[in-house]
Amino acid sequence: MNKHKIEAKVNGKSVSFAVDSNERLIDMLRNRMGLTGTKEGCGKGDCGSCVVIVDGKTVNSCLMLAAQADGREIVTIEGLGTPKKLHPLQKAFVEKGAIQRARRSGRQSVATSAGARGTSRSSTPYKRRPPR
Ligand code: FES
Repeated sequence: MNKHKIEAKVNGKSVSFAVDSNERLIDMLRNRMGLTGTKEGCGKGDCGSCVVIVDGKTVNSCLMLAAQADGREIVTIEGLGTPKKLHPLQKAFVEKGAIQRARRSGRQSVATSAGARGTSRSSTPYKRRPPR
C-alpha cells in the first residue's frame, strides 16, 4: 500500500500524517485524530453525517481521500465550538430546540456554518456511486 505524506490544518492545528492511498478523510479524522464528532452513516455520500468543511466548502468526508487533504484547511464539528463554549449556530440550535439525533445536529451545524461564511456550495470530490 502506498503512503502519502500530507500536511493540513485541522480545526486550526497543523497536522502531518503518512496516509494510505485508499484511506478516507473520515477515517483520518476519526481514527488518527480522535475527532469522532464526524459520524459515518451511509458511507456513500447520501446522508451527510460525515460533513466537514474543506477550504470553506462542505464536503462529505466519506467520499474524500485523506491524501486529497494535503495543503487544505479542514473544520469539523469539534472546530466550531466546545460544550462549554458553543459556536453561535450550535447555541441557536440548542435554544430553538433543534436537537434531533446527534448526527443530524452536527451535520446541520457544520453545513450551516459553511453557509454563514458565504461558502454554502457543497463540493463532492467524487461522483456518487450508482445505487446498488
Ligand atoms: S457517511 Fe453518509 S454521506 Fe458520508
